[in-house]
Amino acid sequence: MNEIIIQIDGKEVKAAEGMTILEAAQKADIFIPTVCHHEKLEPFGACRMCTVKVEVRGWTNLVAACLYPVEKDLVVKTRSEKVDKIRKMILEFLLAHAPYSPQLQELAQEYGADQDRFEKESSFCVLCGLCVRYCAEVKKKNAVGYVDCGARREIRFIPEIAAKECIDCKECFELCPTSFLQAAFVLTESFAFSRDSSPTALKK
Ligand code: SF4
Ligand code: FES
Repeated sequence: MNEIIIQIDGKEVKAAEGMTILEAAQKADIFIPTVCHHEKLEPFGACRMCTVKVEVRGWTNLVAACLYPVEKDLVVKTRSEKVDKIRKMILEFLLAHAPYSPQLQELAQEYGADQDRFEKESSFCVLCGLCVRYCAEVKKKNAVGYVDCGARREIRFIPEIAAKECIDCKECFELCPTSFLQAAFVLTESFAFSRDSSPTALKK
């Protein structure tokens, strides 16, 4: 695979063709914040927290680092006034949904995001899709999925699948940037799982 040299925050970084900016940055120990990214999953591009500024051949733009492929002569800035402003705004919006998320609160501090900027709509899920995609792409079980669309979109466990597959798994729990996923599982389990589900196993 061809090697491509790019510049990130003034540092020369070697990347392989086909890598994204995020992958190249991570390989070089340069931090770019993410919410919807996981290295085992296909890039999704939902949160835009990874927005960076790119310049190549006189063209400048703001792009999602988790989606954008590296290319020759690419110059990347992971922070700028505009980038920070975008991240701040995204965080303010996400915190209206998930005000108690430690991951979001930590990022909010870094970017000076105002937790009370937007009216609280505490759905507790920021629709990053990590749980849905992990279950589908890695576990191949589809025990958790989206319901509805637009502003009413939310994630839900599919009780018939979850009752069989989730009790011994729960690998998605630690991916969730909010407390919502565990709560959704407990709710599904309490309303819908068969009596055969072992209560001790559920406490794992
Ligand atoms: S439940 Fe958690 S992991 Fe799943 S989409 Fe919502 S915030 Fe993301
Ligand atoms: S991490 Fe890139 S869009 Fe979410």
